[in-house]
Amino acid sequence: MRDDDHLMSRRAFAGTALAAATLLGAGVARAAEMKAMTPGQTIGPFYPIQRLAEADADLTMIKGHKNRAKGTVIEVTGRVLDRYGNPVSGAKLELWQCNAAGRYAHPNDVATAPLDPDFQGFAAIASGKQGEWRITTIKPAGYESPIGHRTPHIHFDVSGRTHRLITQMYFPDEEATNAKDALYKEMGGDAVRTVARADGVARYNWDIVLMD
Ligand SMILES: [Fe+2]
Repeated sequence: MRDDDHLMSRRAFAGTALAAATLLGAGVARAAEMKAMTPGQTIGPFYPIQRLAEADADLTMIKGHKNRAKGTVIEVTGRVLDRYGNPVSGAKLELWQCNAAGRYAHPNDVATAPLDPDFQGFAAIASGKQGEWRITTIKPAGYESPIGHRTPHIHFDVSGRTHRLITQMYFPDEEATNAKDALYKEMGGDAVRTVARADGVARYNWDIVLMD
């Protein structure tokens, strides 16, 4: 091998090593940016098999009804992200919840709390270009269940690119009852990732982190 060939191969090696180090660096940076995924939760007994005619993002109004749903109207916004923090656009979100009295519009719910004919109770929406989504609903009540008192929550079934997550969103202003809820407690330290952030009066914000 001539000296300049040798030099070339040394340079090539240095270049390769540099490229590898850069890749490794990028890998480390990428790992550092990785987000913890939102923990999954049970689908529960009240997934709405029998759907209302309407499933839009405003659960407080049903077309043709004179009245808005009873309860405190809230807005919940958020994004669907993958584990690298990239937005997941076009994710399918289905969500369902009980009404302001703690009753699900579902035949399995034997609670004696009244149904609210003006409450939609279910929505099927999709995330936008930046993974964003938004609903208007009413703050769900807590309710008694065979596993004890359930703290207020909204059920979510989210399908991203390749990952489907079934979970529940909790409220930051219900800390004391959250802490006593069996399903919430079951998540241990991961539970914080299912709690929305207060975002002004009657507004909440919650990012859902999928694997992909
Ligand atoms: Fe529930």
